[in-house]
Amino acid sequence: MILVTGGAGFIGANFVLDWLAEQQEGVVNLDKLTYAGNLETLATLKDVKAHVFVRGDIGDSALVDKLLAEHQPRAVVNFAAESHVDRSIHGPEDFVQTNVVGTFRLLESVRGYWNGLPADRKAAFRFLHVSTDEVYGSLKTGEPAFTEETKYEPNSPYSASKAASDHLVRAWHHTYGLPVLTTNCSNNYGPYHFPEKLIPLMIVNALAGKPLPVYGDGMQVRDWLYVKDHCSAIRRVLEAGRLGETYNVGGWNEKPNIEIVRTVCALLDELKPRADGKPYSEQIAYVVDRPGHDRRYAIDARKLERELGWKPEETFETGIRKTVEWYLANGEWVRNVQSGAYREWVQKHYASSAGKGAA
Ligand SMILES: NC(=O)c1ccc[n+]([C@@H]2O[C@H](COP(=O)([O-])OP(=O)(O)OC[C@H]3O[C@@H](n4cnc5c(N)ncnc54)[C@H](O)[C@@H]3O)[C@@H](O)[C@H]2O)c1
Repeated sequence: MILVTGGAGFIGANFVLDWLAEQQEGVVNLDKLTYAGNLETLATLKDVKAHVFVRGDIGDSALVDKLLAEHQPRAVVNFAAESHVDRSIHGPEDFVQTNVVGTFRLLESVRGYWNGLPADRKAAFRFLHVSTDEVYGSLKTGEPAFTEETKYEPNSPYSASKAASDHLVRAWHHTYGLPVLTTNCSNNYGPYHFPEKLIPLMIVNALAGKPLPVYGDGMQVRDWLYVKDHCSAIRRVLEAGRLGETYNVGGWNEKPNIEIVRTVCALLDELKPRADGKPYSEQIAYVVDRPGHDRRYAIDARKLERELGWKPEETFETGIRKTVEWYLANGEWVRNVQSGAYREWVQKHYASSAGKGAA
């Protein structure tokens, strides 16, 4: 059994679904179900006994202690976070609370549990912390991509809170010997992505006939990683990563945002043309840039390839096509996450089941 936190979010849920499909091992899934958490993504696991969903906060030490004691996981994979940069600009406090204080409390609960394990299980235990390339700051055109040695220069409240959590994880290894692994990945994309993020937002707005808002000149460069490749990288690091090490995970797909948007438009033109026959790119609307918007992130993922033999399977062309096709085939999922009905259901369901249930 492993404990996954934030397993109802975009990457966490993809990870849980892939894990249960690939491994003969159960998952306890602890998620607070913020606006970003979505049990609909886990609907196919409703009757799967190997998946235990628990609604709760990584910062709730009593709950986490109880879960660890009850389920005796051999590893914890920490995805739980506030993750949206724009939200961190408008309300940074939740980011400090979950990403910093929450990670601290989780580490302390895990340390207590790990200390009490018999020697063989203690040696085999792992705490894997999922982080971001945004902790490294912004690159200029032509500068080499981020390696694991690049110094931390977070620029947004989000990346600063993630950087703080990475430092805590590192310190819990160096000070207390906790067997940790950290992964810093680039921008993920793929199925089940909440439609406030760039790619799903463009697909959803395009189909709804709404403007496609592009920040500034649209020339902010990101590396794009297909979410299922990210999941396989995490499985690999968990399996064979060297203790206390950091591994960068990237897709080798550096692209400016505007190119991403144009690619999405072109795929939609092909797969679901507009009724008036005009290109979706006509809906692109440049909007005022985000304050402090980092210009470029690029990930050098060679350490992961060299040490653990991991490489992404998808190119951007194959991954983005799969993604657009998934959104076209899953309009109901999109409508449900956007509608109040889903949130009301969560409120009602959890009001009557005291915060616990299977999904
Ligand atoms: N999405 C990306 O492109 C990307 C890139 C780099 C790193 N990351 C990191 O990967 C992780 C997962 O990202 P994501 O895109 O799936 O995020 P997400 O926002 O889609 O999901 C986060 C999940 O965590 C849960 N959560 C939030 N606060 C919690 C708390 N206090 N206790 C328990 N659960 C809580 C939410 O309910 C949600 O289900 C995050 O740590 C993020 O920083 C994401």
